[in-house]
Amino acid sequence: MKNRDRLLLKTGIIIVLLLSYNIDYVTEKVSYEKKFVSPSTKIELHEIKDGYNKNHLNFLKETAAECTLFLNKNEEFPINNPCSVLLLGYGARKTIKGGTGSGDIASKFSTFEEALENDGFKITTKNWLDKKKYPLLKEHNTVKADIAIYVLSRNSGQGRDREISKGDVLLTDEEINDILFLNKNYKKFILVLNTCGVVDLSPVSKVANILLISQLGSVVGDILGDIILGKSNPSGKLATTWTKIEDYKFIHEFGDNDDTNYKEGVYVGYRLFNSVGVKPLYPFGFGKSFTLFDISKVSLTNEKDEINIKVKVKNIGKFPGKEVIQIYVSPSQNNENKPYQSLVSFKKTPNINPSDEIELDLAFKLKNFARYDTKTASYILDKGNYIIRVGNSSEDTKIYGYIELDEDITTEILKNINSGYSTGFKDFNPKIILKDEIKNVQKIKLTKNDFELKKVDYNYEAHINKDLLKIKDSDLAYLCIGDFSDINEKLSGVSLTAKNVKEIKNYIRMADGPAGLRLTNFLDKSSKAYTTAIPIATALAQTFNTDLLEKIGDLIASEMDIYNIQLWLAPALNIHRNILCGRNFEYFSEDPLISGKMAAALIRGVQSHKNRGATIKHLTANNQETKKFNNNSNMSERTLREIYLKGFQIAIEDSQPSAIMTSYNLLNGIHTSENKDLLINVVRNEWNFKGLIMSDWSISGLNEHGGKYRKQNIFGIIKGGNNIMMPGSDIDYSILIDKLNEKLITREDLLQCSSKVYETINALNK
Ligand code: BGC
Repeated sequence: MKNRDRLLLKTGIIIVLLLSYNIDYVTEKVSYEKKFVSPSTKIELHEIKDGYNKNHLNFLKETAAECTLFLNKNEEFPINNPCSVLLLGYGARKTIKGGTGSGDIASKFSTFEEALENDGFKITTKNWLDKKKYPLLKEHNTVKADIAIYVLSRNSGQGRDREISKGDVLLTDEEINDILFLNKNYKKFILVLNTCGVVDLSPVSKVANILLISQLGSVVGDILGDIILGKSNPSGKLATTWTKIEDYKFIHEFGDNDDTNYKEGVYVGYRLFNSVGVKPLYPFGFGKSFTLFDISKVSLTNEKDEINIKVKVKNIGKFPGKEVIQIYVSPSQNNENKPYQSLVSFKKTPNINPSDEIELDLAFKLKNFARYDTKTASYILDKGNYIIRVGNSSEDTKIYGYIELDEDITTEILKNINSGYSTGFKDFNPKIILKDEIKNVQKIKLTKNDFELKKVDYNYEAHINKDLLKIKDSDLAYLCIGDFSDINEKLSGVSLTAKNVKEIKNYIRMADGPAGLRLTNFLDKSSKAYTTAIPIATALAQTFNTDLLEKIGDLIASEMDIYNIQLWLAPALNIHRNILCGRNFEYFSEDPLISGKMAAALIRGVQSHKNRGATIKHLTANNQETKKFNNNSNMSERTLREIYLKGFQIAIEDSQPSAIMTSYNLLNGIHTSENKDLLINVVRNEWNFKGLIMSDWSISGLNEHGGKYRKQNIFGIIKGGNNIMMPGSDIDYSILIDKLNEKLITREDLLQCSSKVYETINALNK
């Protein structure tokens, strides 16, 4: 096949992947505790019967309410029986299961309209839903119904950022009128949010019941009836702040063409709002359920620098439910300003019955939240008091103690990343005023001796696998580029490591994430890929439940078993820096701890299956879609380390994923995929990452965008500590061979990269 045809075919595949089609499935009860079992491996696609994934769908249906939460709630819900419903809003029929682009998958789901009808509700507004554009409610206010539901939906996806316009981040006039009308005229009214991310709800923030369903993949529609009837109790909490658009004014550099200056520094999300005195409409960590909890009898102990917290949680409401206990620390403001508070630990309770009480154990280490000092390239805990707050939202905590440090303590000594680089601006640096009374609470005094000083040996040497010594240069070069040599896969969505190096028997089959296993069989139309769409990552994070995410990882891996996919190209853990990022739905949170812990849990679940691996992406600061291939995220090293690297570090240290995917963007003037300081010094030396590092998807010759910076290329990737360009093309192969001939790339370089590829192939083909 000619290069041009191959490239056209690749483009074709990408387009087809964007189209989804339906599958049928049957539902059945499944036990919550069960580890997912793969029916069989390597099933031929035409043998897969409708309904094979019914256990997965049932599992999600039983648990997805954990992703959902009430922003506002009165006592009118739940109701006892299915009834008549005035159902309105674009999302009622055009329900959205998840975003578009590589974070999408082809999978069937019921719309809210269909699912409510399945549950026995009678929709009284079929006529209105049939019309493309229905008139304002005020003029047609005669519809009688027991309850009213308005589904507000918003979508976004890869390749395009969201906009501050009516119909996207802002509500349209028609939406506002209809929602306010329903709220006024119907005693039992719920506004249901079927959105990819934040919408400015300020015009409707007084609506009595607002349910954030988010986008729940295959079960998005099915969950609503159960919630309305009280069969499922929402127990999610916001993992990203929801507030009005004016409140985001500090993060104003976004969507720029060449350089995006992260001037807000470490003040992202609640770290920003809490520090500048903004009271968000709905704060980070907040969420209401059908019941209420009392958090009491909090006791603190410590073992050296590990702080242990015991909390009693009592259900003081009328419904069984779950609560999320959150611990925040307000750091000492000595030496340098720091955000007002950071989440340092969280835990979800099991289901608690009304009047029952349980005890929960939480823990954290203060050194994990130290300030990074660029001048000395070290993490420092400045002397002073560190206030410990316990509660169930960033805005609803009580002080239960504090840690006292009598001197500055250095906890880690590192090397600067791209030393000498200057962003050209000073980070936002608000003065933080802590007015808290910390007198009659427990004090934990820590000294230098309680901390272990971590020093890193920057002595990583790429291992060369002796099996490769006999392989010729041109074949080693093949191994350093993705599937360009074999694109004739039955399933689209699958990418491969090179298949036709005769000395190497195996290869790796990879597929996206993060919405599930993104496979579509378009080459052979008679057979289908049946994969389960899981909730978007933002909704998964709202569970605050790492055990549940581990089970969802297990579910994904059992589908990987069926299709013999070794590597899942997920989870994605870029920070929600700005609510406008088109891919935020694929990412978890504005907080690195949540992002890292959620990713780690999914990875553990996936990797609990033999020969299955996960890939964390996109390392790092891939926070906008505008000009994503050659946009430079420009930030201080403190911001980079405390916010944009932290989640990746947590995920890697907690779960050792099989692979990392670098991002498209540049970071401080160098492509992340070509940045040796990042990939060798940080990822290999500091984090001790053992797996494969791959580039984000690109092919030289495509994506030629004008602008200040070039896009990533094979030469930079091989020289920069990355191991493989995915998926690459014949053009990249010939560039690599040219560079080899010009002696700009050596056999040693190829051996280093291909050894990692080869060893990952072996690790996933045991
Ligand atoms: C996306 C990645 C994805 C890859 C493969 C890229 O365009 O940025 O997240 O894994 O495509 O589909």
